[in-house]
Amino acid sequence: MPLPRRSWAEPFKIKVVEPLRLTTPEQRLAALREAGYNTFLLRSRDVYIDLLTDSGTSAMSDRQWAGMMLGDEAYAGSENFYRLETNVRRFYGYQHLIPTHQGRGAEHIISRVLIKPGDVVPGNMYFTTTRLHQEMAGARFVDVIIDEAHDPASEHPFKGDIDLNKLERVFVENPGRVPYVSAAATVNMAGGQPISLANLKAVRELANRYNVKVILDATRIAENAWFIQQREPGYEHRTVAQIVLEMCSLTDGCTMSAKKDPLANIGGFLAVNDAEIAAQAANLLVVYEGLHTYGGMAGRDMEAVAIGIEESVQDDHIRARIGQVQYLGDKLRDWGIPIVLPVGGHGIFLDARAFLPHVPQDHYPAQALAAALYLDSGVRAMERGIVSAGRDAETGLERHPKLELVRLTIPRRVYTQAHMDVTAESVYAVYEDREKIPGLRMTFEPKLLRFFQARFEPR
Ligand code: F0G
Repeated sequence: MPLPRRSWAEPFKIKVVEPLRLTTPEQRLAALREAGYNTFLLRSRDVYIDLLTDSGTSAMSDRQWAGMMLGDEAYAGSENFYRLETNVRRFYGYQHLIPTHQGRGAEHIISRVLIKPGDVVPGNMYFTTTRLHQEMAGARFVDVIIDEAHDPASEHPFKGDIDLNKLERVFVENPGRVPYVSAAATVNMAGGQPISLANLKAVRELANRYNVKVILDATRIAENAWFIQQREPGYEHRTVAQIVLEMCSLTDGCTMSAKKDPLANIGGFLAVNDAEIAAQAANLLVVYEGLHTYGGMAGRDMEAVAIGIEESVQDDHIRARIGQVQYLGDKLRDWGIPIVLPVGGHGIFLDARAFLPHVPQDHYPAQALAAALYLDSGVRAMERGIVSAGRDAETGLERHPKLELVRLTIPRRVYTQAHMDVTAESVYAVYEDREKIPGLRMTFEPKLLRFFQARFEPR
């Protein structure tokens, strides 16, 4: 009898292991209370399977660890900076590298260089730190993503696409006030959804007509490129590396959190083609990050990023990375658990509105669901709903996003298929008991990026 399918396996074997700690339900309840029902405030020692984020949590390769030994910790002109610059040019095609301590350092610098108070920045859905830096530089962010992105059940293959009519309206209504389009690949808050190359090309053409720049958030660009290879006609025979280069060629520069796709534990950069913008950015860099040849990273970290970039665009790596996310998603979907479809690149997003219909949005259903999941099994997830959306910069009122999600984010090269099974079974158990999960009341609200440090109690 022929096999129903042939399996894929991870393109690596494990050389070093890190023990995990199992906890009792009593220990988890105590830890959760201590953390104010916010998974960001849990101690990692109290977590069993950590799906809080894919940021800085990747397992580095033996080559990356070997590269760490080649750290040139000179204050100026480190060898590792030049290796990173070479790989940024080779794999993304941008001319000028401005290294930063992580993604938000790059967002800060580019926002300060390009935005004037009163400007408007359109983008394919907000990201928390990106939008905040744009607002702090004096801009108003306008979401111009296609409507399907706000519908967890829409199976549109490119839910990260920009709605060209919405974008043109922003250009027409704000002449001379739009410094750049903020285009993310993939779109984190929509569920790790990709933007298509056809759409990015159309955005470029429209932006050219209105003399507007396009700045890419390239944080998960290799994952985005994989979806293009799998779904976009004409790209099935192109490598992920080729697609990444083509995407970058349509933009004026990028911000990068090297803690995601590039497989490093810390680091990031801004990269641009315009020499004048690069010079202004490098000048601000010495004020806020560090000298322009390290920008907040140690030499060894720049080396790990340089090697990680190369590994991140290998097709067999991305196939296994997204294949693992897909495996977890398929299980949950087959059990009828409400998740964002299609499954995105870096995690599974539970639809907390559909999961907990009895909890109104003002009682923070996604926050409550993330807490319930932790209580069940020690799996740590992250709220991506009303708490993350925060308050409107002008009115001070709470924003009410359409998407109220819990993100199970899969670190790269860290967990096995058995960990995915344990996670799926815990989500199933919580779903069976969902009616008993209470909403939450916020007892402490920080002023900025409140989701990181807010505290809650059950209602
Ligand atoms: N852009 C995107 C799309 C991100 O997902 C992140 C970080 C950043 C920028 C900022 O980069 O953390 O290096 O300063 N996302 C993390 C997450 C925090 O968990 O999704 P950073």
